[in-house]
Amino acid sequence: MRVLSGIQPSGDYLHLGNYFGALRQFVELAREHETLLFIADYHSMNSVRDAGERRAYTRAVALDYLACGLDPERAILFRQSDLPEVTELAWLLSTVTPMGLLERAHAYKDKVAQGQPADHGLFAYPVLQAADILLYRSELVPVGQDQKQHIEMTRDIAQRFNHAYGEELLVVPEPYIPEAVATVPGTDGRKMSKSYGNTIAMFAPPGQVKKAVMGIVTDSTPVEDPKDTSGHLFELWSLFAEADEKAELFERARKGGLGYGEVKKDLLARLNARFEPLRERRAALEARPDEVDDVLAGGAERARAIAAPVLAACREAAGLGRG
Ligand code: TRP
Repeated sequence: MRVLSGIQPSGDYLHLGNYFGALRQFVELAREHETLLFIADYHSMNSVRDAGERRAYTRAVALDYLACGLDPERAILFRQSDLPEVTELAWLLSTVTPMGLLERAHAYKDKVAQGQPADHGLFAYPVLQAADILLYRSELVPVGQDQKQHIEMTRDIAQRFNHAYGEELLVVPEPYIPEAVATVPGTDGRKMSKSYGNTIAMFAPPGQVKKAVMGIVTDSTPVEDPKDTSGHLFELWSLFAEADEKAELFERARKGGLGYGEVKKDLLARLNARFEPLRERRAALEARPDEVDDVLAGGAERARAIAAPVLAACREAAGLGRG
């Protein structure tokens, strides 16, 4: 089974939503399956317009992956733009992609609904994502619920291309959206997302992590009163607790006498305990930039070995090049 997924480089650090929603699964899957993980720097051009920032963010994602225990010998970790071939495949695919399909894409529709000007990059985003997946004949694509539509579009585009040029050319992939993977709530209770500014970035400087945790929004129930344990503070805390600890704390919360401040402090302690060793590993890697460069260069080479025959077959089938 060949597994592939991508993460956009959009900030200095990934956050708990990325970790529990994606990274952790990827590291696990890479132990069992041939796994390609790429840093979607072409995709980030839709939001990041600064070259230096893009480079820094791309490196940060690589560091975060490696710090979280991704074994670069097993998994193929690479930078999307190190294989510009993907943009060629995206063109080929775009010629079989109906406008209507792209017009139904949530990301594009949302932007238009907000009255914001959308450019062609945003409109064509799902085609590039399809190329990412199809170029490597990926079979399984682990993603969050919000990416389900993009995988369905990829399947549709692959079938159309195969229908036009040859049934065996592209592998029609399956999405993998594990039920157990919770959507991690942000500090304000909405989905944790960079664009909402409600993230907890586990590798940010300790002061910032503390500030984010202590800033988790709660209601004004007094300490002595019973608490509703369905809120996002308890949900975040539960990510770091065993079932029996959870039962115990929830019991105390329902009885009253447990303050939100205490829960936050305990959450911070647990978070730090979990991520401290990873933070150290990240810092050590950050001090050896050549090593990260080597990992990405090696990843690109292995990715190219998979991609080259796929693209060659598509070109041949479409009558491109000398033949
Ligand atoms: N669109 C994905 C996101 O924003 C990132 C991504 C780009 C991706 N290409 C991909 C994910 C291919 C899986 C497969 O999260």
